[in-house]
Amino acid sequence: MSDEIKKGLLGIVVDETTISQVMPDINSLTYRGYAVQDLCENCDFEEVAYLVLNGDLPNKKELKKFKKELEENRNITINLREIVKHMPKKAHPMDVSRTIVSVLGLEDKETNNNSPKANMKKAIRIFAKTPTAIAAFFRARKGEKVIPPKKGLTFAENFFYMCFGKVPNKDIVKAFDVSLILYAEHSFNVSTFTARTITSSLSDIHGAITGAIASLKGPLHGGANEEVMHMMNKIKNPENALKWINNALNKKEVVMGFGHRVYKKGDSRVPTMEKYFKKVAKIKKDKKFHKIYDLVKNVMIERKNIHPNVDYPTGPTYHLMGFDTDFFTPIFVISRITGWSAHIMEQHAANKLIRPLSKYSGEKHRRVMLLNQR
Ligand code: COA
Repeated sequence: MSDEIKKGLLGIVVDETTISQVMPDINSLTYRGYAVQDLCENCDFEEVAYLVLNGDLPNKKELKKFKKELEENRNITINLREIVKHMPKKAHPMDVSRTIVSVLGLEDKETNNNSPKANMKKAIRIFAKTPTAIAAFFRARKGEKVIPPKKGLTFAENFFYMCFGKVPNKDIVKAFDVSLILYAEHSFNVSTFTARTITSSLSDIHGAITGAIASLKGPLHGGANEEVMHMMNKIKNPENALKWINNALNKKEVVMGFGHRVYKKGDSRVPTMEKYFKKVAKIKKDKKFHKIYDLVKNVMIERKNIHPNVDYPTGPTYHLMGFDTDFFTPIFVISRITGWSAHIMEQHAANKLIRPLSKYSGEKHRRVMLLNQR
């Protein structure tokens, strides 16, 4: 057995999956064999969520049933609503999201049933209820009245409705829907691997998703979309952009929203998201963010040959849609619940406890000295 250390599991293949394929050489990403670009242009988020969870795109009847099941499960208990309302107003919404899924686990009657059927039902409940609770915090922390879900709205429309009390025009909703599709799944990234690791001890889906949310929060992973917005706010206006980014690179700073562990020639999701970001910028008559976006991107590619990842366009897109900056990563959560759940079910179906080895580099064997001799 080789004792070569692969920090960050760099280049290690740990298992197989049928859920998605990241192909950095041809800049492609497929969910269950379908290119994400194709899915973004031809499907709504619910169809893609069904695909990720079930393995195939739904027919009309299956989609209708799936949407009905989601609608019927959107309501949260008074207990959870009250818990959310009483969370510290300054708590980070990612910490709130993590706690929400944890509470859903306390309330679910099937938490400890890991049968495939129970897991699918729990996945749908988590997927349907988490956005409702997150939207409740979005409003409650500002002292606004919590808005319950509304029947007849799509997943994306309903999220806008629960956050803002209204649904924006269809182009904005489409751009949001596309971002959800692009965030749904991405093979063995750190949060998904966390979920699979937790599952590998035969723990439950709520615990695995709670852990995955904690992992997604980090700025090297999902937290990057929030950091991108902080960066754009620091840059303030297009006139400052070149000076700011050149200065950051001279100081060898990590620029958020750029680079990727797997994609080295560009993130397959970026062209699609960039297109929708530009559409939103036009609708919202944005004067600065789309310009800052291009200026910073060009310098990063020219000077460092480092390309943007999907968090770079989603950050300013969500900002222009009106979401608070610290809610960007929870939006990632409400979509990625589908990918995590699919991986948790796949792990359960062919489980092997995940337990890597480590090379000990601490003190050599020592004898314990009695307390009065130390
Ligand atoms: N800004 C500036 N330099 C970057 C960079 C970035 N965003 N991403 C990578 N680099 C540089 C590194 O400093 C390193 O330079 P060096 O060889 O001179 O030391 C080189 O590129 C290789 O980067 P490395 O950190 O080894 O790549 P990785 O595969 O381990 O890291 C990320 C990938 C995602 C962790 C990294 O690109 C990053 O921190 N990006 C910003 C956070 C982000 O947007 N995360 C979301 C990912 S979807």
